[in-house]
Amino acid sequence: MRRWREWLARGARGRTLDLGCGTGRNLPLFPKEARAIGLDPSPDALRRARQRSPSVPLVRASAQALPFRDGAFETVVSGLVFCSVPDPAGALVEVRRVLRPGGRLRMLEHVRATGAFRARLQDLIQPAWTRIAGGCHPNRDTERTVRSAGFAIEEEGRRSKGTMRRFQAAPSRDRFTSSSEPGATRTAP
Ligand SMILES: C[S@@+](CC[C@H](N)C(=O)[O-])C[C@H]1O[C@@H](n2cnc3c(N)ncnc32)[C@H](O)[C@@H]1O
Repeated sequence: MRRWREWLARGARGRTLDLGCGTGRNLPLFPKEARAIGLDPSPDALRRARQRSPSVPLVRASAQALPFRDGAFETVVSGLVFCSVPDPAGALVEVRRVLRPGGRLRMLEHVRATGAFRARLQDLIQPAWTRIAGGCHPNRDTERTVRSAGFAIEEEGRRSKGTMRRFQAAPSRDRFTSSSEPGATRTAP
């Protein structure tokens, strides 16, 4: 897990959004040339992130309404976030919008089991699990959602172990979103 987290952060290039940065565990791992901004809806998590990395700008907001202009970032990083985002498809529309052409989405996520029995088990425990685990959904097929949102997942660097996945994805050109998307009228800090 530590190695996967390092892979996630070390591959960041240029202006980087750490989406759902939580307490900031990725922040010290970004390369110097990646100018990182952390974003999370939780003020408590952001307070801890501030202690961990005092010089990194932090923004309180949701992935579904990003307060940045179109094409503001070269990299968006998501570490264990899309299991708990209320509207993953909507959040990915926003990620596409704020990524500049040629930008990359880098993800480390736990996902729906590939075996039918385990997936069914995840479906069964999901309602109770979501209630006790801070909104986490153990049964989301996040790679499928990423592809449906118009991203191509790159084979290079992709790893799959049990229900854990790490990968990098590029927005496909034909679906670059316009400024009519939610949050598009807000400006970058
Ligand atoms: C398991 S923590 C992961 C934190 C951090 N990314 C890491 O790798 O350690 C999940 C984070 O997702 C954040 N989160 C939940 N819903 C979100 C949303 N709609 N937009 C952005 N972040 C969200 C939570 O506040 C929490 O900090």
